[in-house]
Formats: sequence, C-alpha cells, structure tokens
Amino acid sequence: MDNLLSGHTNGLNKLVTEAKLNGVTLQNRIIKAATFESMLDTANTISDRCIEFHESFASGGVGMTTLAYCAPEPDGRMMEHYMYIREEIHPQLKKLADTVHKHGTKLSGQIAHCGAFSRNKKLSRKRPIGPTTMFNPIGIPYGSFLTRGMNEQVMREVATSFARAAGILKNAGFDAVEIHFGHGYLLSQFISPLTNKRKDKYGGCIENRMRFPLQVLEYVRKEVGTDFPILGKITMYDDVKGGISLEDGLSTARLLDQAGIDGVILSAGTSSQNPMLLFHGQSILKDLLKYERNPLIRLGMKMLGKSMFKDYPYHELYLLDAARKFRDSVNCNLIYIGGATEPESMEKIMNMGFDFIQFGRPLLRDPAMPKHLIELGMKYSNGCDHCNRCAPLMNAPEGIHCVLPEWEHTEK
Ligand SMILES: Cc1cc2nc3c(=O)[nH]c(=O)nc-3n(C[C@H](O)[C@H](O)[C@H](O)COP(=O)(O)O)c2cc1C
Repeated sequence: MDNLLSGHTNGLNKLVTEAKLNGVTLQNRIIKAATFESMLDTANTISDRCIEFHESFASGGVGMTTLAYCAPEPDGRMMEHYMYIREEIHPQLKKLADTVHKHGTKLSGQIAHCGAFSRNKKLSRKRPIGPTTMFNPIGIPYGSFLTRGMNEQVMREVATSFARAAGILKNAGFDAVEIHFGHGYLLSQFISPLTNKRKDKYGGCIENRMRFPLQVLEYVRKEVGTDFPILGKITMYDDVKGGISLEDGLSTARLLDQAGIDGVILSAGTSSQNPMLLFHGQSILKDLLKYERNPLIRLGMKMLGKSMFKDYPYHELYLLDAARKFRDSVNCNLIYIGGATEPESMEKIMNMGFDFIQFGRPLLRDPAMPKHLIELGMKYSNGCDHCNRCAPLMNAPEGIHCVLPEWEHTEK
C-alpha cells in the first residue's frame, strides 16, 4: 500500500489510511453516507438487492457503509411499507453484515424516526408525533391534520425504541450506528424552534430543545456500551425562517460531544422544508413529481415549488464554510459531508483536520472510488455532475442508482 500511495499528497494519504472510530478500526476514512436505498422486499425488510448494493461499496474499498433510514418503531416510518428494525429481520441484517465484512468493510445503520414528517397511514398512535401539537400539512391527504405533542411517557417509549433498534443492529453484526438528529426528522423537530413550541423543559433554549435528543443518545449508549461507535447526523443550519441557526447547530454538536457521541456528521437543510440545501445543484422537484402518485401532494409540491425547492447552485465543498466553524467547538470526530467529489476537495478536507468524509452521490457514481483513488491519486476524476436525478429515485420501485453511464477513468 505504501508504494501505491507514495506519490500521493498528505491529505489523500490520510484519507485512504486506516483510522480508529471508538472501538472499531476502519480500513480508511471513507464512509458511504446513508442514501435511502428504496430496496425493500414485501416483508418490510431489506432485499437481496440492497445487500448487493452495499457489497458494491465494500468491494470498492470503503471504510464503512451505512444502511439508510432504519426506523426504530413502526410509527417512525415515513410510509407504512418501509422497514422498521425488529428481531424478525435479524437474518437479513446479519446477511448484510456478513457480506460487507467479507471485504474488510465495516457497517453502520442510520436510525431515523420521521416524527411529524409522516405519510404513514397505519400509525399505532393514530396521529404523527412531534414536539408540539400543530397543523400538519403533509398529513392532509391522509386525513391527519394535526400532529400530537409528545408527553414524557411517549418520549421514553421512543428513546427505548431507538435503543432497542441499536441493540438489534449490533447483535446482527453492525459495527456502528448513526442517529439522525437532522434533516427535519423527529429529533430535529425538537431542535428546531419552528417546530418545537413547547413551554416546558423540552422547549425554549437550545439546552431544553436538546433534552429529548440527548435522552435518545443516552438510551442508545446504555444499550450498545462504551466501545461501540455512535455517530450523529445533524443539521448545522437549515436556512428556513425561524428554523435552525448555525448557532443552534454549533450548540447541538457541542452538547452531543459532551454527552459522549463519537462523531458528528455535518449536514444542513431539512427534507421537509428545504431539501435542496443538503444537495445543492439541479432541482429535484421535476423528478419528484414524476414519482408522486398522490394528487394532493402533487398539487402541494407544485404550489410550493420554488419556495420549497430553492436554488442552490452546486460548487465543490458547498457546506465547508459552515462545517469549518465546528472544529473549535467539539473534540469528537468530525465527519464532513456535501460535495466532496474530486480529490482536491478530499485533500483539502483532510488537511483542515476533519476526521472522516461521508460520500453520497460520488459513491453512487463510482462505488469503487476508494480503489480508484488509491490507484490514480490526484489524477482521479469522479464525474458526478450533480444532476441529482438519483435522489428522486428514492421513491422509485427500481431503487436508487446513478443515471450516468458507468464510471470509467478519463484523463483530467
Ligand atoms: C439518493 C439519495 C438518498 C439519500 N437518502 C438519505 C437518507 O436516507 N438519510 C440521510 O441522512 N441522507 C440522505 N441523503 C443525503 C446524503 O446522505 C448526503 O447528505 C447528501 O447527498 C450530500 O452528500 P454528497 O454531496 O456526498 O452526495 C440522500 C442523498 C441521495 C443522493
């Protein structure tokens, strides 16, 4: 390996060299980001295709791959046909872990609860839950006009479900879990002052708004033990009026760090209100409409159109200005995400003191990116053009994939 890497610059060398994440050693600092696979089988579990999908990143040499959106309980699913983590699906989860491990790659599971951002018609609690009882526009087509503000009993139930899910993933052979604190899902609904209007100890200042998310982390930690890596994906800011400010994001990371999280993934935006901030590049609205079957949701999306799907032109490392502010606030691992497509960008991120990089679209474009990087160094070119046509495929029966022709090396 030394020979292969001898011509590489420091940052790239660091990226492709093994690294410790709490009690686990990754063969490099390249982590496949959670990208909702849309590869489920009829029994609400991951399909064999989903396992093959993750095997492509493992055989391509990533340090760790991430199974996306594992709901911790049935009501945590955005739609009723999605998967939730339960003992009965242990065989498929184990098969995934065994497959990925064959290639020396580690496996993480992203545990996410949609809370009020729900289109699930079969809710055991009847209404979508959130920090505050409030009008729920996304529920209108399903006759669910209001969310239900959670009491402490429900908070304990949900925190317990996160812990149970983490335990099931660990028992199946997963090497880490990633708790979703961002993107407008339940925990970020508590963090955002726009959706958290509580007057009790769970609302108001950021310490109060973080109380329930921290309870979830505490329950998960108790379940998985001190050596097991727990990552958290956060919204650094959401660029929505009255929503999560950069100051909130910095406090979120600081509080998670103090509570013993192993790494924070620095994302931005919300899937519910400002999805383009987390992607940048070409709008996903047109393709989302193509796959949307519900006429009322279609109408809503058309009406909200440009105000919801804002224009954020793509440029490399589009979240770096915000992400670089976090290094001084936290001691835990910092994981950069967002537009690290070309080796010059990866080099820069590593040299700036980030510990790992999560890649979404670049790995969809080229699942063997780590091997190609080792081979080609700075001559590597990924070629993802941020058309973002992979993203709406989250709603397509065929599952997500890059729509461009298969990756091949082109001279820069
Ligand atoms: C097809 C697709 C599906 C995604 N699904 C998820 C998801 O399930 N959970 C999540 O936290 N982020 C999801 N994301 C966002 C990515 O994890 C990542 O934050 C974003 O793509 C920016 O990183 P990139 O520039 O490396 O692609 C998804 C992105 C894409 C392209």
